[in-house]
Amino acid sequence: MNNSNYEIFIPENQTEDIDQDREYCIVKSKINNATFKIGFHEYDKIYSIPGLYEYLFYNRLKCVSPQKICSLLMKAAGSEFPNASDLCVLDLGAGNGIVGEQLNKIGINSIYGIDIIKEAKEATERDHPDIYQKYYIADLARLSDSLRKELKKTGFNLMTTVGSLGFGDIPVNVFREGFNILSTSAIVAFNIREIFLSEKDLTGISALIKKMIDQGILEVKLKEKYRHRFSITGIPLYYMAIIGSKQADIPDTWVQNC
Ligand SMILES: C[S@@+](CC[C@H](N)C(=O)[O-])C[C@H]1O[C@@H](n2cnc3c(N)ncnc32)[C@H](O)[C@@H]1O
Repeated sequence: MNNSNYEIFIPENQTEDIDQDREYCIVKSKINNATFKIGFHEYDKIYSIPGLYEYLFYNRLKCVSPQKICSLLMKAAGSEFPNASDLCVLDLGAGNGIVGEQLNKIGINSIYGIDIIKEAKEATERDHPDIYQKYYIADLARLSDSLRKELKKTGFNLMTTVGSLGFGDIPVNVFREGFNILSTSAIVAFNIREIFLSEKDLTGISALIKKMIDQGILEVKLKEKYRHRFSITGIPLYYMAIIGSKQADIPDTWVQNC
């Protein structure tokens, strides 16, 4: 890793594959000689070590999702979608700003981030300063009226949610709140594990997305299956990237019991 204070070990020789939300690494700190385990969903701990997120997911496990979503956004751009310079994006589950950096590379300048943990914002300020016009630490499941008003006033016409759906990350009520903040006919760009959409999974975010598509609340413009990354044991993990346009708000009643 590009940080000589730490040595990272990934337990890649497991006899059985472990699910994505149980993957972990062992970190050896040269600062205090401590050795500890960090789960791949312990984002607060991962972001707190400079370079660890990039090393694990991008260098070792070859994650391509931020680039994939941005390249599909470019592909979808044109007659129906506004030019990159006219887009104002809400990056939901923004993490340490890797998606923001890619959005900026394709010409989007108006980029706002939101994440639920303060370590994400701190890491963004450290790793990708000056990319986000504003970065909110907020739980959209408990959004105050004043923040909802502020976000709606911003006039977001694009929402990105990369690597954050499924596995207990962004729940349906949070996705709904983010989606409903967008202007009508906004673009929505996200990825989700392929099996979540292909299996008869009628719960959580899979069910919500299927229903949104079926009932015309989300009109899919582009859809592509691709290799999101490898698991720690080297198994390719396939995701679906979806670029669509918002046709209407998600009704409250759809997510009331989530
Ligand atoms: C796998 S990371 C993806 C980060 C970034 N989008 C990327 O692709 O590098 C998932 C992010 O979702 C955030 N997250 C999880 N639950 C959330 C919620 N309810 N609201 C906002 N962010 C959330 C996590 O804190 C974490 O930063």
